[in-house]
Amino acid sequence: MQLAVFVSGGGSNFQAILDAIGAGRLDADVALCVSSRPDAGALERAARAGVPTCVLRAAEFPDDVALGAAMLEALATHHVDFVALAGFMRKIPSSVVAAYRHRMLNIHPALLPAFGGPGMYGRRVHEAVIEHGARISGATVHLVDEEYDSGPIVLQDVVPVLDHDTPESLAARVLEVEHRIYPEALRLFAEGLVRIDGRRVYITTND
Ligand code: GRF
Repeated sequence: MQLAVFVSGGGSNFQAILDAIGAGRLDADVALCVSSRPDAGALERAARAGVPTCVLRAAEFPDDVALGAAMLEALATHHVDFVALAGFMRKIPSSVVAAYRHRMLNIHPALLPAFGGPGMYGRRVHEAVIEHGARISGATVHLVDEEYDSGPIVLQDVVPVLDHDTPESLAARVLEVEHRIYPEALRLFAEGLVRIDGRRVYITTND
């Protein structure tokens, strides 16, 4: 698996992926880190790990078609065959979604299809979960399609929502789950253990 990881922020999920590769739990090379911002903390992690980087700021492109073409060119240059969105704050242009269909994952910090969709990102997700009074939250790894947070679900796991939770404390608990299930989901793809049929994702266990 020649992986590209797309980031916009601190990159703790990116780090979890690098760590899983380093520990031999995921057989992949991170061939490229694509950032939507030049100041993303994740770029420092990439530099430390010797991963090539590429900053693609949407504002520098006239439209989504041009942004998509630049993304596809960067991905082709680095022979990327699988994409992991890890805190990437831009909608992926449809040309890229189509080129990497069933080969592009995203992680969302709640149990989709609840608390997802346009505008539901970062702290807002955890605020909404707490305000709604949900008893559980969690993380979802899903395939990327043309809509926000809507593609077929690959893995999910849950955490409790506690009475004293703040968005920050809940986010920290969810993040632990994210760091576990994202590398695991990538491993399932790297080992060819996933079959997709419409919205259903079937996983072969080899134990
Ligand atoms: C994570 O909560 C992820 O679920 C969401 O954005 C956040 C990224 O955090 N899509 P990090 O940059 O990986 O630390």
